[in-house]
Amino acid sequence: MAHSPKALTLTGKHRSLSAPESPMVLHFDAPKVSEFRRLDVSQYTRRNSSNGDFAVNAPETAEEERDAGNQVATTPSATTEPRAGAIDMSRIQALAVRAESMVGQIRQRLLAPESRKVAPMLSTAQLATLCGVDKAHVNYRVGKGDLPAGRLTPTGGKREFTLGEARAWTRTYRAEKMRPEGQRAVCVAVANFKGGVSKTTSSMVLAQGLSLRGHRVLAIDIDPQGSLTTLHGVLPETDVTEDMTISPLCHGQTNDLTSAVRSTYWDGIDLVAAAPFLFSAEFALPSMQMSNPSARFWNVLSSGLEPLRSMYDVIIIDTPPSLSYVTINGLWAADGIVVPIPPSGLDFASSAQFWSLLGDLGTNLDQQEPGGSGKAFDFLHVLLSRVDQADAASPAVRQWIQATYGEYVLPVEIPKTTVTSNKAAEFATIYDVQKYDGSAKTYKRAVDAYDRFVDLIEESVVEAWRARGEVK
Ligand SMILES: Nc1ncnc2c1ncn2[C@@H]1O[C@H](COP(=O)(O)OP(=O)(O)OP(=O)(O)O)[C@@H](O)[C@H]1O
Ligand SMILES: [Mg+2]
Repeated sequence: MAHSPKALTLTGKHRSLSAPESPMVLHFDAPKVSEFRRLDVSQYTRRNSSNGDFAVNAPETAEEERDAGNQVATTPSATTEPRAGAIDMSRIQALAVRAESMVGQIRQRLLAPESRKVAPMLSTAQLATLCGVDKAHVNYRVGKGDLPAGRLTPTGGKREFTLGEARAWTRTYRAEKMRPEGQRAVCVAVANFKGGVSKTTSSMVLAQGLSLRGHRVLAIDIDPQGSLTTLHGVLPETDVTEDMTISPLCHGQTNDLTSAVRSTYWDGIDLVAAAPFLFSAEFALPSMQMSNPSARFWNVLSSGLEPLRSMYDVIIIDTPPSLSYVTINGLWAADGIVVPIPPSGLDFASSAQFWSLLGDLGTNLDQQEPGGSGKAFDFLHVLLSRVDQADAASPAVRQWIQATYGEYVLPVEIPKTTVTSNKAAEFATIYDVQKYDGSAKTYKRAVDAYDRFVDLIEESVVEAWRARGEVK
């Protein structure tokens, strides 16, 4: 008999999380997805700004000006009107429209058709490092003609390889690390309820690094901000439709995520995208649970992923910076978790809440399935991210992190680096950098750290396959 979940009363300190049976959610009519679609910005944006500058239309009337939040209203207000000068919702909405318009223009400029994201080419030296051989060996093997030969650059006569070619090499040279026959994808969620700790950057770097090492990767963006989607050169506001996201799964329209998968500019990474309308999943998931008590709202993504687990080697999920229904789905679909924490006091304090919320919630969900084995992860890693060597507080907080998380802390630190921040402004990661114009030492320090991070996660993935093989 199907077990119907009981009310999710969190046992610990965290009673504020809205559970599916809490009255707030119970009496909430799930909004239609269309209500989350973008506002009509046409009235505020210039059609074609002749000089190409980013522009927000100047309001033409005093009323428009007031709505846009530029000016304090001076007309006396009726009792139903907001008091003069009050920032009411129409003003907030007007600001939203202006901000969205500007972001849209910046994104369109950076990702215009002629400057669409292009995957980098790999040098012989980079390929040799990935394969664990030296350059002379790569040249010798090219001579044998049984692996892709790349092409010689017209100017310097140097050999370079496309991602697809490089992956054919790494699959050959790193055969012992590839997914064993009959094994399924290992799913890694990158999570921390604190914002801005580099979840998305770590997710993208992991997807790119693992694909370079020969693995077939599926990247899943479940954050309505769509940052991981943007890093793939896909614009959440304009390029993403519902069928490319986890939205139909969350609305109970399908139980198979396969049709949402799209290929990307990066050979070896496929993407399930995200866009702002994904916020509606926060209403749809509890609403689904209410109308069908035998549903398991926390397992919707995991079930939808089932058919894809035999098609990919690694699945990377980038989660939103909050404990939401969608985040829970990301964590419950995962076999392993990576929690990036920058060594700052506030980030460390927030990370403590992550574990207590996850522990309380997990215990509760386990109790919904008596007799079940309970949720367990194959691995869990804390990643010291954005480590600022110049920050005097870093060493102390680093020590707290080491003392608290001990063996869970990965033996690598990602430095705070201008290589990443500059490129991120162009919607790219360090692995997108074809040629770095700054200091070679700065670049090497950053790339070495990211390479080590990817290697460590790959070790955990390989170990998970090995452990599953033994259990069989
Ligand atoms: N190693 C680094 N050095 C410098 N800047 C970095 C580094 N890693 C990430 N950043 C920058 O920090 C900012 C936040 O990173 P990111 O978007 O990856 O964090 P996040 O945890 O996904 O944020 P959110 O919680 O909003 O989803 C971005 O501007 C990113 O470019
Ligand atoms: Mg993010």
